[in-house]
Amino acid sequence: MGLFKKKLKQEHKVMLQAERAGGALLPEYHRATPECPHPERWHMYDSMTAEAEVLEFLRTLVTTLKPSLIVETGSFLGVSTLWMAEGMAANGFGKIVSCEFDPVVFTKARENIESSPFARFIELRNESSLEMQVEGTIDIFFSDSDVDIRAAEVKRFLPQIRPTGLILMHDASSHMKTVREAAFALETENLVSCIFLPTPRGLVLAQKRAGRA
Ligand SMILES: C[S@@+](CC[C@H](N)C(=O)[O-])C[C@H]1O[C@@H](n2cnc3c(N)ncnc32)[C@H](O)[C@@H]1O
Repeated sequence: MGLFKKKLKQEHKVMLQAERAGGALLPEYHRATPECPHPERWHMYDSMTAEAEVLEFLRTLVTTLKPSLIVETGSFLGVSTLWMAEGMAANGFGKIVSCEFDPVVFTKARENIESSPFARFIELRNESSLEMQVEGTIDIFFSDSDVDIRAAEVKRFLPQIRPTGLILMHDASSHMKTVREAAFALETENLVSCIFLPTPRGLVLAQKRAGRA
């Protein structure tokens, strides 16, 4: 029986775990890195949703920068989307376009968003970040989809990102090398300037070089 049991996709497995946990916060369990030796000092809802402290940071960025347009890649259950939307609700304006590629995960994210008081700030799309079209100038670009395509999605949206805006790339710790190396490569290509925040999973804050005053 075990041999024939279909292997659950990681996103679906974590989605079920998150449902069972019912919103309880756990100590962060991603492994310690030289830049973040005590990940257990942070908190998480599950291993896909950004760390709880990073969610708070995202909300505060929104109230600090007053963005009109945020693009997020990788909605998962819509938790980071909702935290940023809460910031927009405090601001009284703004729109988040968030895309989730997986249709099962998308359906769950849509349910979560539709049952929240912040739905009016969110446009959720069941699309790939590498295909979706967004109108307008992007104030915050939050790259949080599949780690292997982060550089490609940042490059794809770069012309639309405001020079004074922010590019965030999650999962850029030295343990999860792919995104960190993608961010270094974007710097080497002279496309962006990066700051590497030493959170458990790593968060890059970047600004594009073109158009800086
Ligand atoms: C790390 S999770 C996102 C977590 C979410 N931003 C949060 O913090 O609450 C990554 C998600 O990206 C989705 N994904 C993977 N490739 C994608 C793509 N090309 N376009 C959009 N979503 C993608 C996965 O299905 C997964 O749900």
